[in-house]
Amino acid sequence: MHDFQYKKSELYAEKVPVRKIAEEFGTPLYIYSHQTLVRHYTAFKNAFNGYPHIICFALKANSNLSILKLLAKEGCGADVVSGGELFLAIKAGVSAKKIVYAGVGKTGDEIRYALKSGILMFNIESTDELKAINKIAGESGIKAPIAFRVNPNINASTHPYISTGLKKHKFGIPMEHAIEHYKLARRMPHIDIMGIHCHIGSQITKISPFVEALKKILLLAKKLKYNDINIKYLDIGGGLGITYSNEVSPDPEDIAKEIIPLVRENNFTLILEPGRSIAGNAGILVTKVLYLKNSHKKEFVIVDAGMNDLIRPSLYEAYHHILPVKKNKRTEILADIVGPICESGDFIARERKLNAPAHRDLLAIMSAGAYGFSMSSNYNSRLRPAEILVKGSEYFIIRERETYNDLIRGEKIPGFLK
Ligand code: LLP
Repeated sequence: MHDFQYKKSELYAEKVPVRKIAEEFGTPLYIYSHQTLVRHYTAFKNAFNGYPHIICFALKANSNLSILKLLAKEGCGADVVSGGELFLAIKAGVSAKKIVYAGVGKTGDEIRYALKSGILMFNIESTDELKAINKIAGESGIKAPIAFRVNPNINASTHPYISTGLKKHKFGIPMEHAIEHYKLARRMPHIDIMGIHCHIGSQITKISPFVEALKKILLLAKKLKYNDINIKYLDIGGGLGITYSNEVSPDPEDIAKEIIPLVRENNFTLILEPGRSIAGNAGILVTKVLYLKNSHKKEFVIVDAGMNDLIRPSLYEAYHHILPVKKNKRTEILADIVGPICESGDFIARERKLNAPAHRDLLAIMSAGAYGFSMSSNYNSRLRPAEILVKGSEYFIIRERETYNDLIRGEKIPGFLK
């Protein structure tokens, strides 16, 4: 569900015509709906209401400060994977005690920063990392709160690039070595064992992989208890899918209904790390048709958004609905919708049916609120787009479009070239 709907033939973001915002701020342009973001977060909060839990929004999906602030205001925590994301979460006012930190390659500086910030826990992915964290915590005479990210070897049946819970993946420690890792951690003077973490993949449209993963980590928690290691937090990661085309994903409530009975008897706190399911359908990317071209009997619609603005179609062959900002009755064509970047892989959609757009028409690339701007780049020295937050009939610029000077920010010319 989202708040980008037609009124008559015009696409609106909540109560504002998309065309109006695009005319004011130019294109390509990301537009987010405040109402959708809050509703998606609240759906998680309400679904798990009956059991102790923390919802930690995965910043990698969208790390715009205003979006983080609005989620933090609702009580949301954060799942971070870099010093930069930790900085943004803190800056947005997320309580440190609701921040979990994952990722296979945390640096010494990042570990020090997270310790100093007093985060809830590190989700550790290897023995080497455990040793580094123990050593760094020791230097400050403190204990580092940790969980191990275990790899439950579950097939999340999603795109291979975003599936993470199989043995062949670089993430987590194998389930069968988990106990020995926890025993090793227990012997370390500067480690505080807090929980178990797992994340099996992204854009998962079934409930069963989550249940299967939870059952495996519950079994591990039981074995740990038998070894006198008591776990407080069960972090079951993110990964809930959304509708891009016609997929039907379970709601947070459907997941909660299956999951809560499994943990009801225990005194755990559940942690969830949704990213896409909160932000994905809360954002669109608006683009303008620059040119139409027919080569070798193939139609191309050339738009002003490229793979640098939204890389998902190029990288994962991901499908995004493309809607006209103003509906028209022109004949339907089958076209590739492509960006201006000098690569054949720069496409937004291939062989897509749409009413023939005209020069300067606006198109909305739907479901672009997660892994859209956050994966954007300056490739081809293109300026990254502006971002707008709509709230009812008001709208706010939450990131300025970059300027040419932004492209050289931080660059230095050596003396011999001056
Ligand atoms: N927690 C961990 C440890 C993760 O690695 C991820 C995503 C999440 C939570 C959030 O997952 P979500 O709820 O958003 O599915 N760029 C790809 C998605 C990569 C996801 C990586 N990890 C895409 O555009 O589809």
